[in-house]
Amino acid sequence: MTATRVEFNPFLPEFIENPFPIYHRLRSEDPVHESPMGFWVLTRYDDVAGMLRDARFGRKGFDTLLQARFGEAGFDLSMLFRDPPDHTRLRALVSKAFTPRVVEEMRGRIQEIVDALLDRAQDVGRMDVIADLAYPLPLIVICEMLGVPTENRDLFRRWSVDIARSLDAIALPTEPEVIERGTAARHALADYFRGLIAERRRRPKADLLSDLIAAEEQGDKLTEGELMATVLLLFVAGHETTVNLIGNGMLALLRHPAELRALRADPGLIGSAVEELLRYDGPVQRTGRMPNTDVALGGRTIRKGALVLGLIGAANRDPAHFPDPDRLDITRGDNRHLAFGWGIHFCLGAPLARLEAQIAILALVRRLPRLALATARLEWRRASTLRGLTALPVTF
Ligand code: HEM
Repeated sequence: MTATRVEFNPFLPEFIENPFPIYHRLRSEDPVHESPMGFWVLTRYDDVAGMLRDARFGRKGFDTLLQARFGEAGFDLSMLFRDPPDHTRLRALVSKAFTPRVVEEMRGRIQEIVDALLDRAQDVGRMDVIADLAYPLPLIVICEMLGVPTENRDLFRRWSVDIARSLDAIALPTEPEVIERGTAARHALADYFRGLIAERRRRPKADLLSDLIAAEEQGDKLTEGELMATVLLLFVAGHETTVNLIGNGMLALLRHPAELRALRADPGLIGSAVEELLRYDGPVQRTGRMPNTDVALGGRTIRKGALVLGLIGAANRDPAHFPDPDRLDITRGDNRHLAFGWGIHFCLGAPLARLEAQIAILALVRRLPRLALATARLEWRRASTLRGLTALPVTF
């Protein structure tokens, strides 16, 4: 057998289906991998975590990259793609709305939404976990926080699927059609929010959108472009990821019946179970940075301004940090996974995502004791930054 050099090729159908064997090969054979596609790929836990908390790796250069890929300013003005001090300023404006204490106050409302969604599915007798629970739950929650009416749910779904898919184009060569659809969806969503912002300016309400508008009107805190970028980021990040935590997480549990039984027997395990599901098959598989100086890593030199991808999904299966990393163990201790990132950009919505997933998964497990997969043929979304299923049909 001739040994082939390992490559990072997220377009392969087997990668979309199951990226973990390729992550393992990269990590053991070429952990600081220079892709022929023109970027670097890190797969070891220490390298990915190191990159995320190292000030030499930042977001400078992403504005140009995003504008070259997508044509105009948009997300690049958001905190996600900014360095300090702008990052600090933008994050501080919304961080108060997402603290664990504030989020905990939403527990009752989240439980109510989950119960109502499950009541409806139970009446029908079968369900698609994605369409019937995992998608509407975080969407309703973020809409209520921002103050966005939820009637247009189906429209939102189409737009955010297109936006999420086009995110791959930040690093990867992508069919023009995917980029065009992503851009069109971003414009449509931005138009929608422009209308809503105008309305709230005239008549403010007790919602996050009105708070952000007030900050913008004070002048020096937030520009109009930043206001739009923040709203778009919160809206898209607020549900495109959590849907896949619930979806990938339930799939992992259904494929590991002993873990599912353990959780059913002891609901107190839900906290550590969700952490393990985040580690095992998280919604965000990678993120990127650019060094502001040449950096030596693993015997290689990464040049200033190069695009570096940190594979979160690979770091979370690094045997140097997680004993028996391919095993799903909902009681795993010391689970410092990178599913929410690390360092200054650590996911702002982590407390909310955790609470939503804990409530949704526990409700499924407790209310539907005979829960089982209704198909052996699962379809993954054709995206590799955000990993998730198109549907998860179950019987119960
Ligand atoms: C399971 C669900 C979620 C996952 C796995 C996730 C993952 C992540 C990751 C990995 C980052 C860091 C990206 C980087 O460093 O490049 C991030 C940042 C962020 N997330 Fe989440 N997220 C989730 C849910 C949410 C929710 C529910 C919200 C808001 C409602 C949210 C809002 C944000 C924001 C605003 C940032 C940017 C923070 C910053 O730049 O300082 N996320 N998320």
